[in-house]
Amino acid sequence: MTKPISLTLTTTDLDALAGAEGKLAIVVTPDGKMDQPARRVNRLTKGAVARLTESKKWEKMKPGEGFVIGFPVGLAAEALSVVKLDRRPKLDEARKAGAELARFKGDAALTLAASNQGRLDELALGLILRGYAFTTHQTEERDAIQDARFMVNKPEEQEEALASIRARAEGVFFTRDLISEPANVLTTQEFADRLEAMRDLGLKVEVLEEDKLTDLGMGALLGVGQGSESPSKVVVMEWTGGGDEAPLALVGKGVVFDTGGISLKPAAGMEDMTMDMGGAGVVSGVMRTLALRKAKANVVGLVGLVENMPDGRAQRPGDVVRSMKGDTIEVINTDAEGRLVLADVLWYAQERFRPAGVIDLATLTGAIIIGLGHENAGVFSNDNGFANSFLRAARAEEEGAWRLPLGKAYDKLIKSDIADMKNTGGRPAGSITAAQFLQRFIREDCPWIHLDIAGVAHVKSDTALAPKGATGWGVLALDRLVRDGYEADPAADG
Ligand code: BES
Ligand code: MN
Ligand code: ZN
Repeated sequence: MTKPISLTLTTTDLDALAGAEGKLAIVVTPDGKMDQPARRVNRLTKGAVARLTESKKWEKMKPGEGFVIGFPVGLAAEALSVVKLDRRPKLDEARKAGAELARFKGDAALTLAASNQGRLDELALGLILRGYAFTTHQTEERDAIQDARFMVNKPEEQEEALASIRARAEGVFFTRDLISEPANVLTTQEFADRLEAMRDLGLKVEVLEEDKLTDLGMGALLGVGQGSESPSKVVVMEWTGGGDEAPLALVGKGVVFDTGGISLKPAAGMEDMTMDMGGAGVVSGVMRTLALRKAKANVVGLVGLVENMPDGRAQRPGDVVRSMKGDTIEVINTDAEGRLVLADVLWYAQERFRPAGVIDLATLTGAIIIGLGHENAGVFSNDNGFANSFLRAARAEEEGAWRLPLGKAYDKLIKSDIADMKNTGGRPAGSITAAQFLQRFIREDCPWIHLDIAGVAHVKSDTALAPKGATGWGVLALDRLVRDGYEADPAADG
């Protein structure tokens, strides 16, 4: 797995600043207030910091931005970044400062002299997340990535917050690695293996193989995978850190590659379909984070792992399959496969765990990209309170999410002449008819959220906290949702 950079906390040592190797960063408030280390660096550089903070340039910089001075006089460091940031910054400003520092740092060693800077943990998260790079398949020898160190007045007070940051960063990195991995590497078997390895973290992990899925009657899921050499699997991950309350269930679409099947996709851009397991990737990353930070909550993660291939044994358009629930589905288009996979995993999750709520994540429709672009995931729900608590968590983590409607009127678009429903509803409201299809597999009394992440799981340009490619969208929001809504109230512990 891609490891987050190592970040250590040390006690402020003003005399060490002049000799710090690699890159050095200091923080100055927007109105030019310097802390002790900044004042020392200002003195060492013969007033360069003050010249900057009194300049027009400084005025124009946004909170979180840094100004880089190369080979500064009086310092051993090859570059100095003067970061403009309030002592008590907003969460997004602190993360932005961290993300900027990630780009400043590159592979070099970084010392951030931050004395008693607020929200240092959020700054650290920005630094770690923005520093992600998927280099597994690049053979060129690279210099070792140097560590980062934060010099602060009371390191011991920051350790706990930093540990929680590490847990989140590792979850996001796990998700990004899974999404970035090509389909010849990340087969259904390899995916299941990587999840089984999380038993070491205290997760209960169970892999359901095809014979078991057949016994369970998962005809919809099995139909999708029947044209592939990779066997279909459902992996169940359980984290029981709470009491005896019903768990929250997270369900992910894990199509390790989506050719479209017999309804074959065009060649241009098909390589992007290595990310069609993005929903399963996010579920896996969240479970990893919860285990790493030993969350006091009960959460189960279920992923349906299949490959959608055209083949002599592949499912045909016009086939009718029978879902575990018992409803029959006419497969109009074999490329609308995600909903077939989710139908069975959603039903199984509810039958087995009677969860307090279900959230599914899926790179489900191209139509969601037409509607919301790459800024927001589509949110669908049968429960306003549940939906709002998710939207709140997503907003707090700055992960774009926008609610779209469900409605009985859309059902006529997925009516079949020969089965209980068909798997596509044509071009109008493509993301809604997909969600409407999924809702057929949700019990009336079960709070449910469907997240269509086709536009946000993998993007073609850099975002605030990720280089272009896999974003890990959703790991932070779901972790926060668990923290805010499902964990035992620490005050109640006595
Ligand atoms: N995996 C795709 C959706 C997708 C498209 C994800 C682009 C990421 C980027 C999904 O399985 C699919 O093919 N959906 C079809 C549904 C249609 C056939 C009803 C689509 O969106 O075109
Ligand atoms: Mn498809
Ligand atoms: Zn797909």
